[in-house]
Amino acid sequence: MSNGSGIESVAVVGAGLMGSGIAESVAVAGIPVVLRDVDEVSIGRAGGKIESSLARAVAGGKLDAALATSARERVELTTDLAAIAGADLVIEAVPEDLDLKLDVMRGIDGVVDDDCMIASNTSSIPIAELAQAVRAPERVLGLHFFSPVPVMKLVEVVVALDTSPSILDTARAFVEEIGKRPIETKDRSGFIVNMLLIPYLMAAVRMYAEGFASREDIDTGMKLGCGYPMGPLTLCDFIGLDVLYAISNSLVEEFQAHEYAPPPLLKRMVASGRLGRKSGRGFYEYE
Ligand code: CAA
Repeated sequence: MSNGSGIESVAVVGAGLMGSGIAESVAVAGIPVVLRDVDEVSIGRAGGKIESSLARAVAGGKLDAALATSARERVELTTDLAAIAGADLVIEAVPEDLDLKLDVMRGIDGVVDDDCMIASNTSSIPIAELAQAVRAPERVLGLHFFSPVPVMKLVEVVVALDTSPSILDTARAFVEEIGKRPIETKDRSGFIVNMLLIPYLMAAVRMYAEGFASREDIDTGMKLGCGYPMGPLTLCDFIGLDVLYAISNSLVEEFQAHEYAPPPLLKRMVASGRLGRKSGRGFYEYE
């Protein structure tokens, strides 16, 4: 296919919740996508997630059944990194671990063409640091998606010190082609959304930890009082407490400000495996 951005094939490296959601959104927009992870179990899980999300979109009247089938066919699931070779854009979406991400960036750089754009979906690691792992840092930027990716319309386009203005135009056009709205932000921890969201969520955790109010009343307060779709503690469970803990720490490291600090309870919950919805328990319990 041919489109305004010139991005005609995409690869996503890391097939977790974010990676599979990104791949699904790209495929629904009509662009072929390779979704790669290290083992068959992760790939199988990602295929299942995409299928159930597409089915939900069809059931909700958001997507035609035939389009859902063709979108599913546009996703190539693989464990072979070489399969990303022909992509115009590679998006890495592996867990928030600097060494892992650096390894993945080097791996991607070793396989792709010289003019391939490389994006990271990181929410807290400096893009400048990741860009140093590849031959041409000017081809690297952040594309930060929001969960659940098939539903949330926002992508933060993160401009690092070396990012070339020409790839920015391509990135913005690509984000619009996949039906999302780009907003542009500089490369500093938290970008726009998490810099506002994290102090709010951490305040809710502190309120709960201090016994100031029940989890239900804190959540109901923000849902019914402010019209938020989820209360803050439900949202913490939804994002994943380990992910939030990593983002909080990264903001504290960057800005040395108390408002971003993870409360001791959050650290204890992560240590005891209460990671939220994905582990079956967090502030609430899940099936
Ligand atoms: N594909 C397309 N559309 C879908 C879909 C899918 N797979 N699944 C659901 N939808 C649509 C539904 O049809 C529905 O559309 P309408 O409102 O037009 O009817 C809409 O999405 C909502 O779906 P549901 O009614 O089934 O579900 P819900 O009302 O329980 O909403 C939710 C679920 C969208 C998650 C909502 O609770 C919400 O917006 N929560 C907040 C999520 C949020 O804040 N995310 C950001 C987290 S921060 C982050 O990700 C970044 C980071 O770095 C931490």
